[in-house]
Amino acid sequence: VPSPVLWCLAAFLCGSIPFGLLLVKLAGKGDVRAHGSGNIGATNVSRVGGKALGAVTLLLDIAKGFLPVFLAKKAGVGVDLLALLALAAVLGHVFTPWLKFQGGKGVATALGVILAADASMMLLPMGTFLLALWLTRHVSLGSILAAAMVPVQLFLTRGPHRPLAELLGQGPAPVLPWAALAILVIWKHRENILRLQAGTESKLWGAKKEDA
Ligand code: G3P
Repeated sequence: VPSPVLWCLAAFLCGSIPFGLLLVKLAGKGDVRAHGSGNIGATNVSRVGGKALGAVTLLLDIAKGFLPVFLAKKAGVGVDLLALLALAAVLGHVFTPWLKFQGGKGVATALGVILAADASMMLLPMGTFLLALWLTRHVSLGSILAAAMVPVQLFLTRGPHRPLAELLGQGPAPVLPWAALAILVIWKHRENILRLQAGTESKLWGAKKEDA
């Protein structure tokens, strides 16, 4: 059985694979970081390399978060270490050593780790994401609000007071690593926040590339 440090290292390395960058390069479309928002995530990959490439990036970035947490859970790792592993995988994506620690924003990888740790934790964040995207067409706004909902969901269902916990029959979950993950994702969106405030943030469907 791997030690906690090894689990975290494996999750970090898994998360650090910059699929978006690699796929755009392999498709012969250059460096994704030089176009659109400059991000290596699925949203920008779809701007630069098209929807199909964006979808593959989304799936692979979800998978690289899902896999280490899923395997750890299968191996019987408890909720505390599982939350740290989840954070490690997202940290790997955001601070990937292969790109001088300048990685992506962690949204898809966060989705992957949450799906593996406890898919029910996605309810409020996913609902918020879809609603915000539907209303505003800003992926970034959906991502920011969804991230903010992760600790809210935890608090409501498994937080210290756990008003819904008994109802749902759930045990306590470590709030700190999950809150850190949410803050990390929001912090990585700080340029998006400035663009949202200025009204210059790009929109999905029919967005012009130079708006990104
Ligand atoms: O997943 C990142 C998304 O929330 C925003 O991407 O490229 O518009 O900054 P982007």
